Amino acid sequence: MSSSIQQEKQHAALEAVKLIKDHQVVGLGTGSTAVLAIHEIARLVREGLEIKGVPTSESTAALARELGIPLVDINSVDHIDITIDGADEFTRELHLIKGGGGALLREKIVAAKTRQEVIVADSSKYVEQLGKFKLPVEVIPFAANYVLQALRQLGGEGVVRGAPFITDEGNYIIDADFKRIADPVSLSIQLNNIVGVVEHGLFSGLAERVLMGEGNTVKVFLKQNSTFTL
Ligand code: 5RP
Repeated sequence: MSSSIQQEKQHAALEAVKLIKDHQVVGLGTGSTAVLAIHEIARLVREGLEIKGVPTSESTAALARELGIPLVDINSVDHIDITIDGADEFTRELHLIKGGGGALLREKIVAAKTRQEVIVADSSKYVEQLGKFKLPVEVIPFAANYVLQALRQLGGEGVVRGAPFITDEGNYIIDADFKRIADPVSLSIQLNNIVGVVEHGLFSGLAERVLMGEGNTVKVFLKQNSTFTL
């Protein structure tokens, strides 16, 4: 990864962490950009910030424990105040592809329970239209072949990830190449209707904002389709 991309991730992560307030329940994302935010949160916790974290993956939970961030069981909280997570692609309308790191199921559950879902990304993640990044689809292992066929009928050529890669919930991931996803909302509904699909990496209507590192600045994309630069 180039050092400028790494810096963009860092800038976005640091700006996002500034949105966290004392006593909040904070969703902790998965992936290299979320990791940078988690390190900054841990630094603030050491300085006295009082929060409780809800991790989106086993790897994030392990990192948070190691860094001394107090965690809470997702089922013991009514809502999550703010979540900071990464994305593999995003559009100006805040449609996202997530799941490159294989944590899309817990990430989507955490996002659904979150009041302010903040996405942190470097500038390579911005696209006019989703689909260059292969869409991760989490499937029950027993259904993998069936789902591959069903995805093909929807125009997506899929491959089971890894040897296979097993998610935190014991499922497989199919990476599906749809080329261009013109209508993420309707594809999302179609994917949810396939028997054996547990969840997929299309996130629409969940992010409140995207903080995108761009050179030495951070560009903010808001849900209301407006942008500004920090
Ligand atoms: C993990 C994810 C990540 O947020 C996504 O892959 C982005 O990762 P990175 O910040 O490393 O580019 O969805 O399931």
